[in-house]
Amino acid sequence: MPYDPHAPIVTIDGPGGSGKGTLSSLVATKLGWHLLDSGALYRIVAVSAQAQVIDLNDESPLVAMISDLQIAFTGDKVDVNGNNLSDIIRTEETGAAASKVAALPGVRDAILSLQKSFQCAPGLVADGRDMGTVVFPHSKAKIFLDASAEARADRRYKQLKNKGLSVNLRDLLEQIQERDARDRGRAVAPLKPAADALIIDSTQMTIEEVLETIMAEVARGYR
Ligand code: C5P
Repeated sequence: MPYDPHAPIVTIDGPGGSGKGTLSSLVATKLGWHLLDSGALYRIVAVSAQAQVIDLNDESPLVAMISDLQIAFTGDKVDVNGNNLSDIIRTEETGAAASKVAALPGVRDAILSLQKSFQCAPGLVADGRDMGTVVFPHSKAKIFLDASAEARADRRYKQLKNKGLSVNLRDLLEQIQERDARDRGRAVAPLKPAADALIIDSTQMTIEEVLETIMAEVARGYR
């Protein structure tokens, strides 16, 4: 798919467990637009670094490694240099490791042009932490999706339970709070709403209500 600087973009940023992933995929399906799951890129960097025994805080070998990564997304499937990483990138441990590499400016810079290249016709739904603030600041429909840490921990708990994994709610809440603090407190591209973002607190909302609110914002921005 060719890069199109005029393709419309809706950015959906927010903390882990806010429902961003689910909502981004629903919005992309509804609009028939492409989807960029930018968190997956940081997760891929973390898993690849662990496989190559590169320290997650060691910026220059990480940046060198990124230029050798051949990443292919096919629906939910993620292949990196011919290896299927679809499952391993989705674990809580990988999420925590991703938030470590994501704090390094060189790593963020190294995947910036790859993220921008996802802007293709007929449009793009970009899911992440800095889609509206850094990667696509010219987007005319920016969403910041939030929810209380307790509600997010509870949702994650149910998701993981459904997958048959044994999890502890209190541990999940602690992990979420730790990852939030790192993502919000970092010096580069911290998690925060863009000045022109619509902030949606989904704590008390159903998925359908959030979807409707996002679709209205897209219609407002790109009518
Ligand atoms: O969204 P997801 O949980 O997959 O993201 C994993 C981690 O990647 C986040 O905790 C965050 O540190 C980082 N990330 C980021 N910027 C993005 C997307 C994800 O820093 N645009």
